[in-house]
Amino acid sequence: MCGIVGYIGSKEKRGFLINGLKELEYRGYDSAGIAVLKDNEISSFKATGKLTNLDAKTADFSSEGFGLGIGHTRWATHGKPTEINAHPHWGEFSYVIHNGIIENYKEIKDTLVSDGVTFLSQTDTEVIVHLFEKFIKIGENAFSAFEKTIASLHGAYAILLISKKEPDVIFFAKNAVPLIVGRSAENEIFFSSSDAPLIGWAKEVMYLEDGQYGWAKCKELSLFKSLKTQALNFKALSQDKILAQKDGFRFFMEKEIYEQSIVVGETLMGRIKDNSIVLDELKDICFEDIDAIKICACGTSYHAALSASYMFERLSKIRCSVEIASEFRYKQPLLDTKTLFIVISQSGETADTLEALKMAKNANMKTLAICNVDNSSIVRTADFTLLTRAGIEKGVASTKAFATQVVTLWLLALFIGDKKQNISQELMRLEIDALLHTPLVVKVNEIVHEKIRRLSKRYLHGHGFFFIGRDIFFPLALEGALKLKEISYLHAEGYPAGEMKHGPIALADSELFTIALMPKTLLYDKMKSNVEELSARDSTILAISPEPFDIADDFIKTNLHTHPMSEFFEMMVITQLLALEISIRLGNDVDMPRNLAKSVTVE
Ligand code: AGP
Repeated sequence: MCGIVGYIGSKEKRGFLINGLKELEYRGYDSAGIAVLKDNEISSFKATGKLTNLDAKTADFSSEGFGLGIGHTRWATHGKPTEINAHPHWGEFSYVIHNGIIENYKEIKDTLVSDGVTFLSQTDTEVIVHLFEKFIKIGENAFSAFEKTIASLHGAYAILLISKKEPDVIFFAKNAVPLIVGRSAENEIFFSSSDAPLIGWAKEVMYLEDGQYGWAKCKELSLFKSLKTQALNFKALSQDKILAQKDGFRFFMEKEIYEQSIVVGETLMGRIKDNSIVLDELKDICFEDIDAIKICACGTSYHAALSASYMFERLSKIRCSVEIASEFRYKQPLLDTKTLFIVISQSGETADTLEALKMAKNANMKTLAICNVDNSSIVRTADFTLLTRAGIEKGVASTKAFATQVVTLWLLALFIGDKKQNISQELMRLEIDALLHTPLVVKVNEIVHEKIRRLSKRYLHGHGFFFIGRDIFFPLALEGALKLKEISYLHAEGYPAGEMKHGPIALADSELFTIALMPKTLLYDKMKSNVEELSARDSTILAISPEPFDIADDFIKTNLHTHPMSEFFEMMVITQLLALEISIRLGNDVDMPRNLAKSVTVE
């Protein structure tokens, strides 16, 4: 989730751009840059690391008087977090910044390179500015060149482009990634990824819709979609900055639950082509030499690992074992070089996971990190990395990071199955259909959210919760229990549903709340009998299922799906919202729960 700001007007531009990017820091980034076009000269500055580095670099730069400015904070998805890869990217006379992922950038880049264009960066973004200038050079005017460029792009983008060809115009485009246009009483024009940077500057804003693009100059703004002019739809801008950073949600965790639909889409971007999985990051791994997988992680990432173990054995047809990193480190494990060692970590800094990774490296195993933060310690240590692309996760209780980890692991399971020729084309088609359906499945249904908010009042006491599920719904039950524990401080345990009669059912009574994950695609009848056992002992049951279950005290209806992972992700959102609403009713700090840290960098 990069950040974008833009400005057209006569005020000093460096200050607006840098301060605007600071308001977007909460979105996470690893590098930043600005460009200012004034008196037909473009000045550009870029820096890796924190914005203070860019601030220092531009300390002697000032730009009073009419001009254009664009600024960008980058969260690496293509190419390492380096100054070269930081935005803006430039051609001969134009500069561009971009948030999102250009799915077809490689085809475009190959064509441009064959035309003789020299690329400086590893990013997908750079193709935009070179394509724009290519159209200019064959005679198109600037806006037509921009229009043709945007029409050539597939994927998610929020783009600002400035060019000496039109020194008082900013070209913009938006698809699947937020981009806001603002304007002031003095006819200045602003752009931003969210409201926060515009507060105190813009009087009114317009939230661009997917597929919209156009050009802006002082006092004039033209908006188009599919070549047709669009009406401008400005409205007054709220002045509450903190609310703006949370995009109007009550907590960052709530915002991140709602963001899952967008970020899961970005996790998939560019990784599915026709009926196959494309993971260029792994092109140098020889899977013929791999006959097993071992995954190491902690907490929520461990639950993602457990979920993946079912997929590796079922889809890739490769043995998979999963270890909690803090246990793995001291058990004197038997390791062999024919096992692919995978670590999963949102932060990339978890001490136990990092040390487990080092143990695998010392045993000469091939190591792969599934991580959300490029250039983190775990990424820098692993041989290979797949980034989950969740963007920054502010809530200590992990939500979108978990969702994108499981999606990334699902992609990997299919990729390995294909490499080892263990997956038929027909099965691959079914799996890819379900994968592509996931962004829609994790989109929050606000009616369901409201129902969860209402019923959460019944779950504020009792002596504990069982979250129960079978197969892949067992790790999901563990994850649901952890979510609830860490933000409500109520006791909750996740259990394989078949384990009840081996002891836990002794706890069953009306004050024990059972959250039963009852998918229709997997072992429904087995689950039904497990829940009946608990109900017979008077446990209070909340059933989550596509099929009404009359002995449940509460029931949340889910959709009928053809694939178990679709049920998995829909129930994941419900358990996340349940934990959120119970915690809110208890008056807890959802984003910063007691005793917890976002990244556990100590043993
Ligand atoms: C998740 O809700 C927890 N905050 C915690 O269990 C977390 O998943 C664990 O500490 C691992 O962190 P990592 O993914 O950054 O390695």
